[in-house]
Amino acid sequence: MSEADDRSEARARMVRTQIEARGVSEPRVLDAMRTVPRHRFVAEGYEGRAYDDSPLPIAAGQTISQPYIVAVMSEAAGIQPHEVVLEIGTGSGYQAAVLARLARHVYSIEVVKELADVATTRLAELGFDNVTVRHGDGYAGWPEHAPFDAIVVTAAPPEVPDALKDQLAVGGRLVVPVGEYEQDLRLIRRTPEGYDETTMMGVRFVPMVKPR
Ligand SMILES: C[S@@+](CC[C@H](N)C(=O)[O-])C[C@H]1O[C@@H](n2cnc3c(N)ncnc32)[C@H](O)[C@@H]1O
Repeated sequence: MSEADDRSEARARMVRTQIEARGVSEPRVLDAMRTVPRHRFVAEGYEGRAYDDSPLPIAAGQTISQPYIVAVMSEAAGIQPHEVVLEIGTGSGYQAAVLARLARHVYSIEVVKELADVATTRLAELGFDNVTVRHGDGYAGWPEHAPFDAIVVTAAPPEVPDALKDQLAVGGRLVVPVGEYEQDLRLIRRTPEGYDETTMMGVRFVPMVKPR
């Protein structure tokens, strides 16, 4: 791919002006954001806006999050190269791809089958061989692969789901937007005694739905 085709300049600018400028500084996160081709994850026709400072539509009425928010959540998750991560809300697969650059393995759950299928194919085509996507309900987590060193939730539940807290390793971090319309982005750490919780910032995510 030529420099122009792979849009690395647009990504470098995105990282400089949208992400570093707002205080994200973890080098591995910045590197992942400079590397993952966001234009391959947006809906057809939106490739030219892939490095804009905004969320964008994907199929099934869902969205791919704003790049800055992806970077903030990835940094907050504090992921080391040997760690295993769970993502809830695969969507386009973009956040999973960023996490895959940071972790040993990423498990990701998506409630809309069409999105899970498209993301699986896309991630494989792009060579992300350390991501496993499953169609299912994120409220239950993925007990077969627990405990997780980090859990990143990219849809908003009204309360922190207990199953996700239970599936955190001791020392593990859960990053989750909590609330109905506007949400608090919370960082929850599991300690040997229990959980430490901090609120990071206000955010707006689509709701985490409860499938019947
Ligand atoms: C803001 S989008 C996620 C963006 C995605 N991480 C990306 O990088 O493109 C939220 C996603 O969460 C999914 N979702 C909502 N409720 C869910 C649930 N209970 N379990 C799993 N996924 C869910 C939605 O279908 C949607 O794809």
